[in-house]
Amino acid sequence: MKRKFLFVCNFKMNTVKKAEYKKALQKDVYNNLVLCPNFCDLKEYSSFKKSNSVMLGAQNVSEYANGAHTGEVSASMLKNAGADFCIVGHSERKQNNYETLSQINLKIKMLIDNNITPIVCTGESVARDEEYAVRFVLSELNEMLKDVDLNKVIVAYEPIWAIGSGKVASVKHIKSVITTVKQYTGISFVLYGGSFNQSNYQDITDIDCVDGALIGGASLKPDVIVQMIQKTDIK
Ligand code: PGA
Repeated sequence: MKRKFLFVCNFKMNTVKKAEYKKALQKDVYNNLVLCPNFCDLKEYSSFKKSNSVMLGAQNVSEYANGAHTGEVSASMLKNAGADFCIVGHSERKQNNYETLSQINLKIKMLIDNNITPIVCTGESVARDEEYAVRFVLSELNEMLKDVDLNKVIVAYEPIWAIGSGKVASVKHIKSVITTVKQYTGISFVLYGGSFNQSNYQDITDIDCVDGALIGGASLKPDVIVQMIQKTDIK
C-alpha cells in the first residue's frame, strides 16, 4: 500500500524561479508536495495548485486579524493568495525575530480560524539525548498548542542543530522523539526537518512514524525534490 509522505519545501528568503519548478514538475500530479515561497511569490506559485495539484504554504503569519501592524500579513490575506498551510514558530523566527511561544499560539489559532493548516516547528538547540529532546519539545508544544484542536495542526520536529548544518539527526533519535511525542500529545501528523536531502532521505522516509519532511536547502533544487518524491511514494 502506498504511504503518503508529505514534502514541505521552505524556500526561506530565497527566490526559486517558478519556471524551474514548472520544468521539474512537468504535467504530473503531486498530492504530497507543499511549496512555501516568500509572500510576494505566493500568488504566482498558486497556479501549480490547478496544474499539478501541488499545495501552497506560507512561511509566517501575523497573530492579528487586521489593522495597524505595518509589515505584517494576515491569515485571511494568505488564504486569498492560495495558502493551504503556513509554517509557524520556525527556529529562525524564534531566534532572529524574538517570536515567543504565546505569540505562536495566537498565530496557530488565527490560521485555524482561516482554514489554513499550521505547521508548528519545534526542536532542541543542542544535540543531546532523546530524553532531553522529548522534554524540550513537549514543553514547547504545551505552550504553543494551548487550547488548540490537535487534529488541525501538523508538527515539524526540527532539531535546531540539524537545520542547515548538514548534520542530520540519527534514525534512532528521530524515531524515538517522534514516537514519544505522538504518544504523549495525541498529535498524529509529524514531519522531520533538518538537513533532509538526497543523501539521507531514504533512511528518513523509511521511518514509519515520520509523516513527511520540512525541507530548506534542498527545496531550492526542484529536480532534487521531484526525484526524491518519485522514489519515495512507494511504501
Ligand atoms: P534545511 O532547513 O533543510 O536547510 O536544514 C530545514 C528548515 O529550516 O526547515
